[in-house]
Amino acid sequence: MVNLGDVFPDFTAQSSKGEIKFHEWLGDSWGILFSHPADYTPVCTTELSRAAAMQKDFAKRGVKMIALSCDDVESHIGWIEDIKDYSKCEFEHPIIADPKRDLAVKLGMLDPDEKDAAGLPLTARCVFIIGPDKKLKLSILYPATTGRNFDEILRVVDALQLTATKKVATPVDWKQGEACMVLPSVKAEDEAKFFPKGVTHVEVKSGKKYMRTTPQPE
Ligand code: BEZ
Repeated sequence: MVNLGDVFPDFTAQSSKGEIKFHEWLGDSWGILFSHPADYTPVCTTELSRAAAMQKDFAKRGVKMIALSCDDVESHIGWIEDIKDYSKCEFEHPIIADPKRDLAVKLGMLDPDEKDAAGLPLTARCVFIIGPDKKLKLSILYPATTGRNFDEILRVVDALQLTATKKVATPVDWKQGEACMVLPSVKAEDEAKFFPKGVTHVEVKSGKKYMRTTPQPE
């Protein structure tokens, strides 16, 4: 199990693009590792098609994507042809092969409710977002039967990258370009220094001064 803030485990694995040494593959980039229950399955095919269509959006943000599915490389390579056909897009990112579930077990990815034909548990739909420091910044876990929302994954990348360097937090349903909340740790006397675009104090019934917004910092 990997906790937020842990260095994400390094591993070597076979993939549709050859052998991957995970940390070396990440380099200085942000990375997203997302797992899939199995090849040639309908929900996974829609997800990887969406990932292929959004490849440029993630690349623009300096994010490398890599998938993992509990089948072998040969199966992945055949399945990628279906994904390209379905999405009408090129498919650039690697799919890690994990036929024996070694990585799925190590990374806590198994879904106990979904089994393959041999009765082995399939991987759930994990999303791990890893920072350039190789530490886990976000983890979301969906069961195999619920497809992910890639607009949400892109939105959280924007929030993670912004809050990694600015003294703000993103409020509910925040999107790129919208106002942010000033971190509670910022002292009133430091507001002007950190937020040249200004800070708005929102009055609340308690009279406490914790609701502070600022335009999204550059
Ligand atoms: C799918 O990708 O369609 C799927 C895989 C395993 C269980 C349920 C759905």
